[in-house]
Amino acid sequence: MRAVVLVGGFGTRLQPLTLSTPKPMLPVGHVPIIERLIANLGRSGISDVTLALGFKSEPFVEAFPTGECAGVVLQYAVEPTPLDTAGAIRFAAEAAGIDDTFVVVNGDVLTDLDVAQLVDFHRDRGAEATLHLIPVPDPSSYGVVGLDAEGRVERFVEKPATGTAPSNLVNAGTYVLEPAVLHRIPSGEKVSIERVTFPAIAAARGLFGLATDDYWIDTGQPEFYLQANLDVLSGIRRHDRGVAVHERATVHETAVIEDGIVGPGATVGAGAVVRRSVVLPGAVVGDHATVTDSMVMGRIGEDAVVHASVIGATGVVAPGEAIHDERRPHPAS
Ligand code: GTP
Repeated sequence: MRAVVLVGGFGTRLQPLTLSTPKPMLPVGHVPIIERLIANLGRSGISDVTLALGFKSEPFVEAFPTGECAGVVLQYAVEPTPLDTAGAIRFAAEAAGIDDTFVVVNGDVLTDLDVAQLVDFHRDRGAEATLHLIPVPDPSSYGVVGLDAEGRVERFVEKPATGTAPSNLVNAGTYVLEPAVLHRIPSGEKVSIERVTFPAIAAARGLFGLATDDYWIDTGQPEFYLQANLDVLSGIRRHDRGVAVHERATVHETAVIEDGIVGPGATVGAGAVVRRSVVLPGAVVGDHATVTDSMVMGRIGEDAVVHASVIGATGVVAPGEAIHDERRPHPAS
């Protein structure tokens, strides 16, 4: 079976990290999100993936030059202008010549879902489209569904106001679609699958949803991107594991790495502390600096204290400076 993976978004919520690296290329446990995601698709029987690209396509092509990723054949469909989720699916499916049941995945979702289970459910129900659903405590920032006893979606509401959600089951960003869905999407136009296409299929009674309790995380926000990294260390993932300190990182013997990840080419100085944080490839944490609940691509000066912050590739924290809840450089600057 074939899949389209959406990777053409701007990744605004993860700025400034995404100013230099597209979100799906950011590492989780030293491996790009997209590679972990495609490996899981491969385990579920997907043989071919088309990456729906727009913004910043070069890093993907450079990372996977042979047209193969995690044993899965890769193709690229590069939109002339960003077409939003449904427009991108139609563009990529046409570019790849998809004319049979296919899978679509948001390029920032990490899950242990067995996609074959979703495909079986889709076929069993004779669905036009089937969503993977996950229960969450507060569904207000997601697409939320109301289901009947057979799993048919009676309502699909994108980001409902707090207290008005039909359930706590949300769109988890993995879909099985019939080619008929493509005919609902006008060619070459910017259309959102969540706001336009899914509500229309639900109104025609062709949209179904399967809720599972598999590991699932949407890495699109800093706290969840950080959590996704820590989760590959804690052993709660079914397949995805990682080591804390990459073999090509330089960590001083007196530094303390506690529930943290240090990437290749990164340096952590003498007496420094890295706790619940990700030190990305090439980043520098100076001597006796403390970094907690943060993500760092840039440079942290000696004796600095950095808490709950996101430091991009050009971000600098001066020696002795203390910051918390900051983004550097600030995304607007
Ligand atoms: P934010 O800017 O932080 O909201 O992130 P995002 O741009 O990634 O948006 P969002 O997380 O809502 O997008 C869901 C998925 O669709 C992600 O995998 C995006 O890469 C992808 N996506 C969003 N818009 C487009 C688009 O216009 N074209 C393509 N090819 N993919 C898109």
